[in-house]
Amino acid sequence: MYDVNEIRKDFPILSRTVNNKPLVYLDNGASAQKPQVVIDAVTKAYSEEYSNVHRGLHTLSNIATDNYEAVRAKIQNFLGAKHPEEIIFNSGTTEGINMISYSWGVPNLQAGDEIILSVMEHHANIVPWHFLRERQGVVIKWVETDADGGLNAQAVLDAITPKTKLIAITQMSNVLGTVVDVKTICTVAREKGIATLVDGSQSSVHMPVNVQDIGCDFFAITGHKLYGPSSSGAIYVRKDRADEMRPFMGGGDMIKTVERDCVSYNTIPHKFEAGTPGIVQMIGLGAAIDYLQEVGLDRIAAHEASLRDYAMQKLSKHNWLNIQGRTADKGAIFSFTIQGAGHPHDISTILDQRGIAVRAGHHCAQPLMQHLGISASARASFAMYNTTEEVDKLADALEFCYELLS
Ligand code: ALA
Repeated sequence: MYDVNEIRKDFPILSRTVNNKPLVYLDNGASAQKPQVVIDAVTKAYSEEYSNVHRGLHTLSNIATDNYEAVRAKIQNFLGAKHPEEIIFNSGTTEGINMISYSWGVPNLQAGDEIILSVMEHHANIVPWHFLRERQGVVIKWVETDADGGLNAQAVLDAITPKTKLIAITQMSNVLGTVVDVKTICTVAREKGIATLVDGSQSSVHMPVNVQDIGCDFFAITGHKLYGPSSSGAIYVRKDRADEMRPFMGGGDMIKTVERDCVSYNTIPHKFEAGTPGIVQMIGLGAAIDYLQEVGLDRIAAHEASLRDYAMQKLSKHNWLNIQGRTADKGAIFSFTIQGAGHPHDISTILDQRGIAVRAGHHCAQPLMQHLGISASARASFAMYNTTEEVDKLADALEFCYELLS
């Protein structure tokens, strides 16, 4: 049985108040709170076991290196990758996708080649491809969502032409909560020799993921959404794709030899990990992944599905609340505007007075906002520690907003 009150005890921040009200944290899509085990792992790494990694032969450096490298196998297992060296550490999805754009996109794409994106991508999975459009004439092709915010795999496949070289797509929209059947997309793409990148920033937090089952070439995750430290993350790079990639950043650790007139590179994954990395952040992410696996992604998904259903039933009663995204394949993410209520920033400010944290704005998804015909929305995004009582508080507060603002 999933005891959400026991889970909540693992997250110290959840017992604080905000504006003299118990905190109701519904901004998990932006960043999740941290369990004590992560805070302890970070504290221990700094207070007892800190040194640089891969460089020293002294005891502390060996301990730090072992702790840091152990996280690679944890992420390999978490994502179901075949080899540990397919896991490249980084600061999160933004760095990961920029790396793929530069390391794989620049040498493999030419003017006129096409990249398929959905209209609901986060800017982190749009702007790196615009770089290729601006600099080397790559063409971006957009796939629209349905009226209910769903994204049909067939609509993505229908956008394929003989010029398609890459499909870069989210597995779960950070705005609509829409879940995409990336397995069907990646399977067909592989048969056609098209590379696939899946943005797993949101999905990896809310459902079990297996990159071999999905069949993608690249899969990006972000540690701070996975209950781990900020500036931690990784990208899965399928081994045969790594051979097509050139290094991203140059510096220490990513080289084998450096001479005055030539340089040779390290093997993967280190070839793509220049400089002193986020040692402690990654150790903290390892602790977060242990914690998530202990609780169980299946159980978390079931809990969040019940929160989603409860919230949908409560919130959809109001015809003045415009919920964006109502597809059946939806995670527990609710973006909305209130009829006649002005800018969603006002909603967020009023909710904050009641201790309720939500995000308001364009959610780093401006093409989606344009597609929806709005400039911004407010967003409540749920996590493993949220409760139905918190949904009730959100619903009450939104009624108050409607009365006050409209
Ligand atoms: N990508 C994060 C969000 O959706 C920051 O809010």
